[in-house]
Amino acid sequence: MRIDILTVVPELLSSPLNESILKRAQESGHAEIYVHNLRDYTDDKRRTVDDYPFGGEAGMVMKIEPVYRCIEKLKSERQYDEIIFTSPDGIQYNQREANRLSLMNNIIILCGHYKGIDYRIREHLITREISIGDYVLTGGELAACVIADSVVRIIPGAIGDEASALTDCFQDNLLAPPVYTRPSEFNGWKVPDVLLSGNFAEIEKWQEEQAYERTKTLRPDLL
Ligand code: ADE
Repeated sequence: MRIDILTVVPELLSSPLNESILKRAQESGHAEIYVHNLRDYTDDKRRTVDDYPFGGEAGMVMKIEPVYRCIEKLKSERQYDEIIFTSPDGIQYNQREANRLSLMNNIIILCGHYKGIDYRIREHLITREISIGDYVLTGGELAACVIADSVVRIIPGAIGDEASALTDCFQDNLLAPPVYTRPSEFNGWKVPDVLLSGNFAEIEKWQEEQAYERTKTLRPDLL
């Protein structure tokens, strides 16, 4: 899978996209992530990517030309399944959407910035608008990282232990059961006996019950 991220602040993206699972997924060829600086698609000396809004409200607006040029160049090289814009007024992101995106071959993520982007970009170039929650970030870069991370980790084969992605929270609309590791007792705090029993049928039953109980208590809206 290939993800192209368009931004005016590429520095915000380099570290989150190049560590841990995302790094390994790229090294093993499961994912390719490219960051494009929209300033490289300007044609003036000052590399201007924003301008004053028509109508005179406060704040700057991202210009249409650099975004258009960058998207058109990418589209001339391959076909894109989805061109995403990150924005607090997009559809609410969740695991179902992450699963859907992880099955795609090529996606573009355009990071919003300033007061907004020229609305013609959203009308004519964008195919999906995604919000990662009901709060406002300084820019769409952190949202793009959230999307890239959550999508890449579930690409089949991208993490060594595939079973682990499938038992994630939300994969079956249940929160994950508690997990423990050695020592089996610390400070008098014990790991539940059933997990040490070696009885895998019992363990699985316990894990299912725990997942259900935790969901009922913490996120009843999921049931
Ligand atoms: N840009 C600013 N706030 C955002 C949010 N909540 N989700 C996605 N993109 C954003």
